Amino acid sequence: MSRSGGLPYHLKALLYRKSLWRVHEQATRSFLERWNPSEKELILIGPSGGYSIPVGWLAHFDRISAYEPDLLARKIFERRHGMKPDWRGRFFPFGKPGALKAFSGSAVLFSNLLGQIEIRNVRKLGAWLEEELQGLTWASFHDALSGYGIDFDTEDAGRERALLPVMKRWIHVRNPGVGRIEVLSHEAPDLFASFKNLQYSYWQWTLTPGHTFLTEGVFPGKVSVPEDESC
Ligand SMILES: C[S@@+](CC[C@H](N)C(=O)[O-])C[C@H]1O[C@@H](n2cnc3c(N)ncnc32)[C@H](O)[C@@H]1O
Repeated sequence: MSRSGGLPYHLKALLYRKSLWRVHEQATRSFLERWNPSEKELILIGPSGGYSIPVGWLAHFDRISAYEPDLLARKIFERRHGMKPDWRGRFFPFGKPGALKAFSGSAVLFSNLLGQIEIRNVRKLGAWLEEELQGLTWASFHDALSGYGIDFDTEDAGRERALLPVMKRWIHVRNPGVGRIEVLSHEAPDLFASFKNLQYSYWQWTLTPGHTFLTEGVFPGKVSVPEDESC
C-alpha cells in the first residue's frame, strides 16, 4: 500500500517536473552515476512515471524489469523513457522470502518508494531487506523527512548516514514567524540501520512550492576517509 502516487501525483509532475523538480532530478542523476552498477539487467521497484530517473540513464542496461501497480504511471514511464520495461506483477511483494534473492545477477533500484509504503514493523522489514539484498547490487532513494514551509540545507552532508538530530539541523523554516512547524519523519532510513558499509547522499526534493522532502540515497560501499582527516 502506498501513501502517494496516482492521479494527484501525476498532476504535480505535470505542473512542476520541468521547474521545481529539476534540482531533484539532477541530484538523483549524480546519485545514480555514483552508484554506477556494472550489471546489464535492472529491476526497478516503484518508478511511477519514472520522473526522478534522468532520461538516458536507463541506456546503461540491456534489460529492465519493473514493478509498478499504477497503469497510467506505466504509460507515462514508457513515453518519458522511450522504452517498455518488462512489467512484472504489480505490487512488489515486500517481506516474501526469496523475492529479491531471485534477482541475483541484476541490479535492484528502489525508486523513491520506501518512504511512501506503509511499514508495519520496521525492524522486521529491515531484517528481511538485509537478508534478501546480501550479495546483490542495489540502491534506494527515499523520503527521510518532509514538511511544509521548510527547506533542507544539505550542504554539509557527507557520505555517512545522518541520524535524526543531524537531519534536524538541516531544516530551515522559511517564515520563522509562523509558530509551530510539523515535520514528518519517514521510516525508510531506519530500514538500513543495521546494514554495514553503506554510502549515503542527501538532497532536497521540492514537490510543490510549499511541500519539501529530504531525500536519502543509499547503496553499499565503503566511505573513504580523506587522508588529511585520518589519524
Ligand atoms: C512516490 S511514487 C514514486 C516516485 C517515482 N519514483 C518518481 O520518480 O516520480 C511511489 C510509487 O510506488 C508505487 N508503489 C506502491 N507500492 C508499490 C509496491 N509494493 N511495489 C511497486 N510499486 C509500488 C506507486 O504506485 C507509486 O507510483
